[in-house]
Parts: sequence; C-alpha cells; structure tokens
Amino acid sequence: MPVEAARRPATLDERIVEYVESVVRPQAAQMARGDEQRFPRYVIEEAGRLGLCGLLVPKVHGGSAGTHLDFARLIEATACACASTAVILDVQASVAIEPLVQFGSEDQRRRYLPRLTRGEWLGAFALSEPGSGSDAASLQTRAEHIDAGYRLTGTKMWITNAGAADLYLVMARTGGEGARGISAFLVEAERPGVRPGRPLRKLGLRGSWTAELHLDGVEVPAGNLLGAEGAGFRIAMTALDSGRIGISAQAVGIAQGALDVAVERIRSSGDRAVGDLDLLMATDAALRFAATGPLADMEAQVASSRQLTHHAAALCDAGRPFTREAAVAKLWSTEACVAVASTAVDLCAPDSTDEWHPAAVRLRDARACTIYEGTSQVQRMVIARELLRA
Ligand code: CAA
Repeated sequence: MPVEAARRPATLDERIVEYVESVVRPQAAQMARGDEQRFPRYVIEEAGRLGLCGLLVPKVHGGSAGTHLDFARLIEATACACASTAVILDVQASVAIEPLVQFGSEDQRRRYLPRLTRGEWLGAFALSEPGSGSDAASLQTRAEHIDAGYRLTGTKMWITNAGAADLYLVMARTGGEGARGISAFLVEAERPGVRPGRPLRKLGLRGSWTAELHLDGVEVPAGNLLGAEGAGFRIAMTALDSGRIGISAQAVGIAQGALDVAVERIRSSGDRAVGDLDLLMATDAALRFAATGPLADMEAQVASSRQLTHHAAALCDAGRPFTREAAVAKLWSTEACVAVASTAVDLCAPDSTDEWHPAAVRLRDARACTIYEGTSQVQRMVIARELLRA
C-alpha cells in the first residue's frame, strides 16, 4: 500500500512505525514464502519514500542524516515483522549505499546516491565468490585495464539482491594476489555482460533474493572505480564492519519476533500447566520453572543482544573504533537469535511443526544470520585478532 507523501510523518520513530505497520507486516506471510519470479520492489520504493533507504546518507545528498543507532532500530523493527524485508533494506542502506557516502567522489555520489536513497534503484554488494567466501582476500574476479577504464570478468556468489539490483558494488582484482591487489567498482546492472543467476532456493529469508552474479567482460569507465586502485579490500571490510551492526540488529528483530510469538502462544494457550499464573504460584517450583524459565532466558538473550548492537552502533556514531564490538554484537546476537527461535519452536509445539508457523519461519530466517556478512567463525577470528593486536 503506497504511503502518501502528503501524510509523511515527521519523526523517525513515526516513519519506522508507518513502514513496519503499513508496508512490512501486511505482506510478511507472503514474503516468507518468497517469489523467484517477481522481486518485491515495493519494500525499497516505500522505504525510499519514507526516507529510510537514505538513513545513513547526509542531507546534502538527499538522505535523512540519521545515526547507526537509528539504523539499528529501523532494522530491528523491520526484522521483527519480516526478516526478508529487513535484509533487502539492510543491504541497500548499509553495504550498498554507505561505501558510496564514505569513499565515493562527488561525481559518483551525485550520479548514484539520489536514486538509491529515493528507493528508485536497488543496490547490492558483491564480494564473495565460489572459491572465496570467508577468505575474501583470495577472490579471483579480474578487472583489467582497457583504454576507457576496466573490463571485469569473474563470478560472484551468494549476492543479496542480485537479479533485481540496479547497481552492484563489485570487488575485483586489479593487482597481484592478496588484499592489496583488490579494487572496488560501481557496476550498473544494465551494462552488457552483467548476468545474474536465478535466485537460490534457501532455507530461510526466502522473500529476499540471493544469487550468483556473472561478469562476462563487463566494461566500466575509469570513473566507476570507487576509491583508489588497491583500496577495494579495505573498502569492503569497512563496509562489513558497519554492515555487521545491521545484521546484528536483524538478529535482534528476529529473536524479538520469536519471543513475542512464544509469549502470545503461552498467554493464549489456556493450558493450566503453562499459562495460569495462579496455578503457577501455587504449585511446585519445578513446574513454574518449566513454564517460565525458557521465556526469561529468551528475554535475557534478546536484551543483551540489543545492548551489544546499540553499543557498537554508538561507538561507530562517535567516530571511535568499533570493528571488535561490531563482531562481538554480530556473533552474540546471531547465535542467540538461533537459540531463541529454536526455543520458540519448542514452546509453540506442536503447531510450530507447520512449515509456515511464525516460529518455524523465524527459526529458518535466524539460521542465515550466523552465516552471511561473515560467519560466526569469522567474527571469532576478527575478535581474537583485535584482542591480540591491542
Ligand atoms: N577495516 C578496514 N581495513 C581492514 C579491516 C577493517 N575492519 N580489516 C582488515 N583491513 C585491512 C587491513 O588493515 C589490511 O590492510 P593493509 O594490507 O594495508 O595492511 C588488509 O585489510 C588485509 O587485512 P587482513 O590481513 O587482516 O585480511 P585477511 O585476509 O586476513 O582477512 C577476514 C580476514 C577478516 C576473515 C576477512 O577475509 C573477512 O572479513 N572475511 C569475511 C568476509 C565476509 O564477511 N563476507 C560476506 C560478504 S557479504 C554477504 O554475506 C552477502 C551480502 O550480499 C551482503
């Protein structure tokens, strides 16, 4: 349902509520099932209309100049209603747009930011390859010099929004082996040789597209190089530091959604062993714990995840180092999210054995969070390295 510009609410909180309640929640059940034929463009168009795609973009470039804390709240609220929508929006506003803000030339910002910020264009971040997922610095996609710029050849894999995106941020090798040989390019989808694969059939997050991206000798002008030659790996890692705050917020939202489903189920169950407080107060502690203990643990996991996410976001907003804190938040929140969603499935059983029960959907969605934008093992490596370096 389109949100009329004339009714555009004033505050960020109101805009988030408007987005979640008018746009996201009504379509959540449909989104969970996914559609490999038609990408849900409306989630980005409506977010653009409400100024949410450009939350991390300065006003001078048409953005809303919000903070990373604002962004974490937006992604959590969206993911609580629909995780698939949240990941589409997260990639757009974070790893696709933010590197342009941070590393783009004036010309690049002018060319791309307004359309991405308004939600007219969808962005994607193309780092991973079939032979290099966690070891990102070993990527093999090549960008060779040609007269007018560069020619890109290679295959990217597990790219969120691929197939629907209008602009890809592509990391490709302009130099020798290792991180310093990598550069970042802005590649428009309409360029000859840009060939996305079919969306993968995934365990969860089925409403968001994830696909391969083939680059068959794609020519881009020199003006499409983002930052300096050889700076691509640093650009990607900087984007992922911030992106991991978004995925952490996504996990908080999914976990909160799963907890809400479980609380509602227990409240409305009419099962005296679980739902009747008088009975619980009057009977033995073991029974009381069996009923309420899991809910309390879930709440502790959600609350601690939220605090870690907000802590990393606040450090980022303050311009302080936050690589370690973002990795801690992502590791903790995504692992907690899987545990919370799994407990929600237990508490909602047997109904939750239905494939489309909201707890089952959230458990599948949760599982992806421990994998993309750096697996839990990668987060542990980042955290340990930062500790040892300190
Ligand atoms: N910020 C800025 N620069 C950084 C950095 C950071 N966080 N981390 C490393 N760098 C720089 C280093 O300073 C170093 O620079 P110099 O060469 O100038 O010294 C350079 O990058 C290389 O650093 P490392 O030697 O530490 O690099 P590494 O190869 O050992 O990296 C790794 C290891 C941290 C595991 C890294 O490969 C990594 O993060 N891997 C996971 C990748 C990932 O998250 N992929 C997900 C992609 S997106 C996705 O999931 C889907 C989607 O569509 C969004």
